[in-house]
Amino acid sequence: MSFDDLHKANEQQLTSTVDQLVKEFEVTPEKLDELVAYFIEQMEKGLAPQDTDDKSTNKGLPMIPSYVTGTPNGTEKGTLLAADLGGTNFRTCSVTLNGDHTFSMEQMKSKIPDELLEPTGVTSEMLFSYLARRTQLFMKKFYESDMQAGKEFKLGFTFSYPVDQTSLNSGTLIRWTKGFQIADTVGADIVQLFQGELDKLGMQNVKIVALTNDTVGTFLSHYYCSDNTDSMTTGEISEPVIGCIFGTGTNGCYKEEISKITKVPQATRDKWAEEGKTHMVINTEWGSFDNDLKHLPTTKYDIDIDQKFSSNPGFHLFEKRVSGMFMGEILRNVLVDLHSRGLIFNQYRTTAQLPHRLQTPFELDSEVLSHIEIDDSTGLRETELSLLQSLRLPTSPTERREIQRLVRAISRRSAYLSSVPLAAIIIKTGTLEMRYHGEVEIGCDGSVVEYYPGFRSMIRHALALGPLGAEGERKTHIKIAKDGSGVGSALCALVA
Ligand code: GLC
Repeated sequence: MSFDDLHKANEQQLTSTVDQLVKEFEVTPEKLDELVAYFIEQMEKGLAPQDTDDKSTNKGLPMIPSYVTGTPNGTEKGTLLAADLGGTNFRTCSVTLNGDHTFSMEQMKSKIPDELLEPTGVTSEMLFSYLARRTQLFMKKFYESDMQAGKEFKLGFTFSYPVDQTSLNSGTLIRWTKGFQIADTVGADIVQLFQGELDKLGMQNVKIVALTNDTVGTFLSHYYCSDNTDSMTTGEISEPVIGCIFGTGTNGCYKEEISKITKVPQATRDKWAEEGKTHMVINTEWGSFDNDLKHLPTTKYDIDIDQKFSSNPGFHLFEKRVSGMFMGEILRNVLVDLHSRGLIFNQYRTTAQLPHRLQTPFELDSEVLSHIEIDDSTGLRETELSLLQSLRLPTSPTERREIQRLVRAISRRSAYLSSVPLAAIIIKTGTLEMRYHGEVEIGCDGSVVEYYPGFRSMIRHALALGPLGAEGERKTHIKIAKDGSGVGSALCALVA
């Protein structure tokens, strides 16, 4: 065998292994049907009171009542503060709602310092004093004289983690997701922690009046901004039905009839009914869908990432197959595995010799995947540069071709799975059947849905392949609710 033949045989082996992997990442129409049916079942289970005889750990989806019972119509006015702790950044903003579906915003954004994401040694005080100091800086920059004059400010706090909400402005952390590991925050009231640190800095006149999940914020802001909810003026009969995030994490909320949220005690539901409330926004925390892995497609990489590398093993398993925080990590795990099987990057003899960044969990950003996804340059030169720059990893043209196929398989699985909760909620709420020509709008925010090339179109494709079918897909509009969480928590603060 010549050297040429030998290299060709190696390349063929790589290609056929990648063929196999691409297959493993496929989500078929039958799988979509199965997942949507199970998602609906898990939503219903999560809304019902817990069955004390049921010994299984599966309690259904978290389905957390948000205490938001109304929705804006775009005429709301006022200037409110909003703070937003998300997966990657912390933002403080002041939002001016102009009352005509538009708003303006001043904001200051900072990347969450790496020290706060350390696995040990971080306390709630460290995190919330950081948030308070950033808020103080913002107030100094934009509202110094108002602060000195003792003016009161209402602040809506978007906190994008699972919180057991006890009222519009209180709730305790169930568990951290997206990398934080601060033990003493779990079980503590988030508003008290943040307000406590603001007070320590002498900022008692900044009052946290609302605590919202980012999905709820996105939902409300989509309502506020959308000016075609009124069919009388536009002829369009479309209704916002879901607020969701596809970014570092993924999650969604929707409006549910209060009578169906049977896990809330009857007396409380009666009281809400007396106050004229009929619906409440439910934060599904769909990142936790199927933590028992009864139906989710699972590769050995998903298991490794969850068990060896993630900060919350066994939880948020849907998110770990879908969100931006994990897309790059899946690719990294596949590449390290292909290398250990002698199929790729053969210039490095052992795993320890691989570029350090390729060995580092969560170092490969989904942004790199987004460049590779659409690279059509000769010899995939863009991909070459992108991998060199981000991982210091040199690649051959054949390797790049296979990496691109892997990237596309990973992102397609992510987008196809993303369609599952959307279809499930549309079916469960029956929104498409409510009116003749009824259409639905989904308000989305997050880096993946906003910037990943083709992501929205792949979601739509999966909606058509799944139980909604082409007809349902045609009536479903995926809209970007830009700055959703900031505007949404300002809206919550307004009515608090
Ligand atoms: C994670 C959080 C959830 C949040 C989502 C999107 O899944 O648990 O609360 O909405 O990320 O940021």
